[in-house]
Amino acid sequence: MPAVAAKTTGQPGRVWLVVLTSLTTVFLVWCLDALFEFLPHRSPGIDIYGNRTLLHRVGTFAAAKSSDAAPVPGGASSGGKLSGSSGTFDGSGGTLNSSAAARYDNMTRCGVRIRRCRNDWLHEYSRLHADIAAGRAPPRWLVSVAVEAGLADRLTGMVTQLWLAVLSRRAIAALTYGDLPGFGAACDAPHFDWLQPPPGLPPDAVDPLKYTYRGVRGYGGDRSYPPTVNGSEYHPLYMINAGDLKWMETTNLSRLPEKRPETPYVISSSNRGRSYAIANNPYHKATFAERGVPPDDAFMCGFFWLCWPNAAVQAYYQQFWEPLSDRAALKIGLQIRTGDGVFRGEAVSDAAKAAALARGASYFECAQGVEDLHKLPGQRVIWFINSDSVVLRIAAKEKYGDKVLTDTALKMVHPDCKGQNPGACGQSSMDASFQHSLGSMITFALVDYHVVTVDSGFGRLGSYMSGRWGNDYELRPGEKCDPKAPLPKSTTNNYFAGVRKRA
Ligand SMILES: *[C@@H]1O[C@H](CO)[C@@H](O)[C@H](O)[C@H]1NC(C)=O
Ligand SMILES: *[C@@H]1O[C@H](CO)[C@@H](O)[C@H](O)[C@H]1NC(C)=O
Ligand SMILES: *[C@@H]1O[C@H](CO)[C@@H](O)[C@H](O)[C@H]1NC(C)=O
Ligand SMILES: *[C@@H]1O[C@H](CO)[C@@H](O)[C@H](O)[C@H]1NC(C)=O
Ligand SMILES: *[C@@H]1O[C@H](CO)[C@@H](O)[C@H](O)[C@H]1NC(C)=O
Repeated sequence: MPAVAAKTTGQPGRVWLVVLTSLTTVFLVWCLDALFEFLPHRSPGIDIYGNRTLLHRVGTFAAAKSSDAAPVPGGASSGGKLSGSSGTFDGSGGTLNSSAAARYDNMTRCGVRIRRCRNDWLHEYSRLHADIAAGRAPPRWLVSVAVEAGLADRLTGMVTQLWLAVLSRRAIAALTYGDLPGFGAACDAPHFDWLQPPPGLPPDAVDPLKYTYRGVRGYGGDRSYPPTVNGSEYHPLYMINAGDLKWMETTNLSRLPEKRPETPYVISSSNRGRSYAIANNPYHKATFAERGVPPDDAFMCGFFWLCWPNAAVQAYYQQFWEPLSDRAALKIGLQIRTGDGVFRGEAVSDAAKAAALARGASYFECAQGVEDLHKLPGQRVIWFINSDSVVLRIAAKEKYGDKVLTDTALKMVHPDCKGQNPGACGQSSMDASFQHSLGSMITFALVDYHVVTVDSGFGRLGSYMSGRWGNDYELRPGEKCDPKAPLPKSTTNNYFAGVRKRA
């Protein structure tokens, strides 16, 4: 600075010009960054939106109905056009209704709307993860121990653990055991390698986090570490079926574990999600907002940090992504969970079909109501039906015909085979189970409106991945829905495998 001043002493006007130009440039760069995310440096090869074709297909960020709202991969609002040229985000396509949109509108930087799921945070975290994994940074891990449960429970716990890891600057890693499939069966990990645990974890530090512990399923006793585990190095965080996890919404999560945040390994298991709560935590809310992650999107953004559907999932589900990529169609998803009994096998008979249709009746009725409310004259309508019961899928296709898109061949098996379908254990069967769970969940994200089963997380998580707000209906069998009153995410996330708290 003194050098500049000395040189230009005779020309104060020019000094001011230089200063002003510099400031303006800095300001412009900062503003433009809200759009293009070049600050801080973008690491090459890591881009959540890199595969534009597939992302577009998966449609997660696509605007719903209008053909000219130009959904830009990388955010429905990429480019700051939340309400598109035709205002399609105003509810008709089951996307952002006006009050949700207003909330999102607040996330601006000098008038430019911040993109949803900005990449810069992901890039920073990916670098941290790589440094820890390669030993360039001291070991600082959060290891997620698999839960003996289905995909929805495991995934909602996993995304919660991811956000805890991000906030406490730990590398996340997943560990599986027994017959439970690993996430690698269905996911590629495009940004950081979390699919393997760090080497050398002592079994004593892991076993107490397992749902089946000391040979007892859902063991309810003490889960603290035996003296063989060095408490300065390992910390257990057992959250399975935990009712009260209020601390995630009220404490500073940068300090995890709170009493000894420097502990190198946090070993954790969880089947209950809190990603909404974490993004809504007053200590971290501002960070999430600045990074384009409102609470309603925290599950979605976290999921895509972790997982990209792998080749096996893509190969099978392409048949559904194709028709659902029709942006002119009105797409309604129905997730009808009938119960774990079906995993042991179902007989396809007329009586069974009639019973399945009767069981699903209120869901079909709700979907019809949503269709009647939103269908434009001449518009194509698609009902995508997701159900654990193949009998229900077959019966629905027979009854409702062409507008039904569903898999009439697939018999699902549960990824917790020991508990649900002991005859189906074995790696290829378990891997396939995870691929279909993930594939059908992601496919469910492609629709405009979601009619889901209250006591199940499967449809709800698909809905959270959709990037649409205010488009959910939750029913128990026999309950009615009011098509004009979809639930906001902040309410829907209160149930099983939700992202806030247990019912
Ligand atoms: C993007 O996805 C398509 C399939 O949908 C795949 O063929 C292609 O290899 C992917 N591209 C990249 C760069 O991952
Ligand atoms: C937007 O931000 C302002 C100022 O912080 C706040 O008063 C207002 O309630 C916010 N709007 C919404 C819809 O959250
Ligand atoms: C426990 O771990 C700490 C931190 O790594 C180490 O300093 C200490 O020596 C260990 N204690 C035992 C008994 O190994
Ligand atoms: C949260 O804790 C971290 C680590 O101790 C600290 O740096 C940060 O300032 C705290 N945040 C707030 C808002 O107190
Ligand atoms: C819009 O969203 C807000 C907040 O998510 C919710 O309270 C409101 O009921 C929704 N309105 C409609 C018409 O869906």
